[in-house]
This record gives sequence, C-alpha cells and structure tokens, in this order.
Amino acid sequence: MNSQQTTVGLLGCGNVGAGVAKMLLEDGAYINQKLGWPLALRKIAVRNLACGRLFNPPPELLTTDPYEIVGNPEIKVVAELMGGIEPARTLVLKAINSGQHIVTANKALLALHGPEIFEAAAKNRVEVLFEAAVAGGIPIIRTLKEGLSANRINHIVGIFNGTTNYILTRMSREGLDFQSVLNEAQKAGYAEADPTFDVEGFDAAHKLILLTALCYGIQPAIEDIHVEGISSITPQDIEFAAELGYVIKLLGLAYRSADDDRLEVRLHPAMLPKDNLLADIGGAMNAVLVSGHASGEILLTGAGAGMMPTASSVTADLVEMARADRSRSFQRTPALGWCQLSNERPKPMSEIRTSYYLRFTVADKPGVLASLAGIFAERNISLAQVLQKRPDENGTVPLVMLTHTAMERDMLLALKDADGLPAVQAPTMLIRVENRL
Ligand SMILES: NC(=O)c1ccc[n+]([C@@H]2O[C@H](COP(=O)([O-])OP(=O)(O)OC[C@H]3O[C@@H](n4cnc5c(N)ncnc54)[C@H](OP(=O)(O)O)[C@@H]3O)[C@@H](O)[C@H]2O)c1
Repeated sequence: MNSQQTTVGLLGCGNVGAGVAKMLLEDGAYINQKLGWPLALRKIAVRNLACGRLFNPPPELLTTDPYEIVGNPEIKVVAELMGGIEPARTLVLKAINSGQHIVTANKALLALHGPEIFEAAAKNRVEVLFEAAVAGGIPIIRTLKEGLSANRINHIVGIFNGTTNYILTRMSREGLDFQSVLNEAQKAGYAEADPTFDVEGFDAAHKLILLTALCYGIQPAIEDIHVEGISSITPQDIEFAAELGYVIKLLGLAYRSADDDRLEVRLHPAMLPKDNLLADIGGAMNAVLVSGHASGEILLTGAGAGMMPTASSVTADLVEMARADRSRSFQRTPALGWCQLSNERPKPMSEIRTSYYLRFTVADKPGVLASLAGIFAERNISLAQVLQKRPDENGTVPLVMLTHTAMERDMLLALKDADGLPAVQAPTMLIRVENRL
C-alpha cells in the first residue's frame, strides 16, 4: 500500500454514501489541497449494482462484496453508510479487528452496540468517528470533543429529528392535525413510509444517548430513558400552549439535576417558553443547545439530515482520519472523549421534577375544578395557571392547567385519580413544561 495517502472504502452508496462519493470525487482536488495529503476513494460496496443512484461513481469503484473493503490491507479507513444493525455491526467489528479505522453515520448501531464497538477499537488501537450520526450536518460531536473539551456540561438539549420538527411546525403554523401533516410529509418524501422510528422518538433518542455519552461519560441503554413521541399532540394543545406563551417541540434533554446531581436523560414533547433559543427552530431543522460551565450557552443549528449535509459531516471525519494518518496520531482522543465510561444509570423518570401542562376534558358542571384542585393539593402539586374554555356541542369543556414543579410519580398518581372522576370524560393530556433551561 502507498503509505503516502489515506485510502478509503465506503459501505453503502445510498443517500449518504452517494453524497460522500460525490464530495470525494468532485471536490477531491480541493480537499487534498487543504490537507496536503491525498484522500483516495478506492471502493464502494452496494447491494445492487444496477440500482439508480443520486450520484453515479465510476462503475469500476462499485462492488457487491463488502469484503473487498473490510479486511483489505490496501484500505485504511472504512466508512459504514449502509444503516441498520446487521450486517453493519459484523462488518464494522471485522474491519476494526483487521486494524482499519471506522467512520459511521449509523446512530442506531452506536446507540445499541457502541460499547462493544468502542472497546474493540481501543483494543485494536483504531479510531471510530461518527460526526454524521448525530444531527446530520451539524458538527456537534467535534464541538463537544474538542471545542468544549475543558467544560463540565451543565445541560445539553436539542431538537434531534427533522421529521417531527417539520410536523410540529406545520401543525402550529397552519392549525393542521398530526395525521394530515404526516400524510402530506410522506407523499412529499419528508417522512418514511413507516414513520414510527421518527414520530415515536426512537431516532432522536439514539442521538441523545450518544450525546449523553460524550457529555457525561455515561452511555444509557435505551430502556433506561423515557422516550415518547409526538403522535398524541393535537392542534388544540399547540393553540393553548401559544396562548400560555409556549411552543411545543420534541426535545431531548440530558443534565445533572440541581437537586441531587443525578443524571436525567429524557426524550419527549415539551413546552418551551417562546423566548427560548430553541423555540424558533422550525421546519426540518435540527438544533443543539449546550451549556458549558465556562463557555456558557452555545446553539448550533442546521440540517439534521439530507444527502449533502450528512455527507459534509462524514467527509469531515475522513479528512480528520487523513490528518491523523499524515501526522501518525490516530486515537488523539478517546472515541467518546472519555478514557472510561461510567456504569451510572440515569435517574428513573418517576423521580424527575418538572412543571406540567394538563388538558382535561370535563363535563360542564359546577364543582369540577374544585375536585381537581383538591386531588392535586393532596399530592402537594400546586397550580400556576388555569384556562377554562367554552363548552363544545357535546357539553364538554377543555380545562387547561399549568402546574408548578412537581415530581413525575406524584403527578401520574394525581392524574390517575383525576381521570377516575365521573366528570372527566377522556384521558388527560400531559405535556412537560421546561421553564428552567
Ligand atoms: N439519510 C440521511 O439523511 C441520514 C442522516 C444522518 C445519518 N444517516 C445514517 O446514514 C446511514 C445510511 O443512510 P442512507 O439514508 O444513506 O441509507 P440508504 O439510502 O438506504 O442507503 C444504504 C446503502 O447501503 C447499501 N447496502 C445496504 N445493505 C447492504 C449490504 N448488505 N451490502 C452492501 N451494501 C448494502 C445499499 O445498497 P443499494 O444502493 O444497492 O441498495 C445503499 O447503497 C444510516 O445509518 C442512517 O441512519 C442518514
């Protein structure tokens, strides 16, 4: 192998892989000039040679055999851009065990098998970079690992999924309901045919898990964090939130609690005050708000997905690999920026404390508000604001309450009692309110 260049193989030439191939082939001269060292694309593995592509690399670069890349001593860096768990996991581990460095955009793989992959990489003294796995084109990983490396992170909060942000934005701007915006988004290609992974929060949760590992040295299992999507949000909730001075976003949050210093990690719809930095991030944009003890708050926003924004992050990782290769300084920092991950688990959701928005559907009768207030008082939950609307044609009334800070366990017990009242006609809507960010 010519040791005066960094050789690369791509596993996958779909949305992301095609973008990376395009950058390496069309912008190669510019990248090499910046690097002063050639970054050479050697091979691209795909499933089907005949399938149409967003960018067509020279046919001689394509193969259907990933083992022309994995384990090939002529290829130094393997970029895994196939997605899914298998065969991606097996191929990545085989490449690592053959001494090849890894770049990946696969958040699901790292969120579920990160510890195994990072351990194998440390053992084999190879690098694993994954800038594109979190928030696509936004360089948040490098910002945390390098720019903020000397900071203790007070909190990291973000909008990590473009599809759900797009749906909530259109619901709030046009008063549409969730299902009709989702149907339109699917027709326009903004949402997957099976949107569960996005709308139920799992895609964003995978990114939050990786950010938690980078910020706190703890990689929680997905079962250890509360994950809730946006499918039950109604235009009515968005309207009431606006009336109260809030917007609704699907938020991922990780921070050490001011009460007991324990780590809280959760992913769910949340009401944010309209003047919060994240409140104006609309459409399919992603955003990450990170607060370092010395840096203060930093907001990064941009495209969280898409062919070229994601390719930009993957290619930046390849450039970093080439720099490391040139200066013989692979493993300059541990993959997650920590020498060792801790086994600490996040605080159970039942113990978190926050404020709540509650929308009751009640019969239009005297005494209902007093009964509800009594249930909350019994659990020491105090109310900050109450909105009562006009009855609809069925004689039911939406009754909206904002509470002061309360413990989740107490809130859920109080709601169980409240929903058992004969006057309460439908399950109550609960949205957490984040006033303290
Ligand atoms: N799309 C985005 O905007 C975005 C953003 C951030 C991160 N990501 C992540 O990037 C990764 C790739 O996403 P994508 O949207 O580019 O996926 P995609 O469009 O479905 O492309 C997958 C590529 O992998 C190839 N492939 C799949 N299984 C293979 C196998 N067994 N052997 C050889 N090749 C195989 C496919 O080959 P064929 O072309 O022949 O079918 C295709 O070229 C995923 O982990 C995703 O989560 C994507």
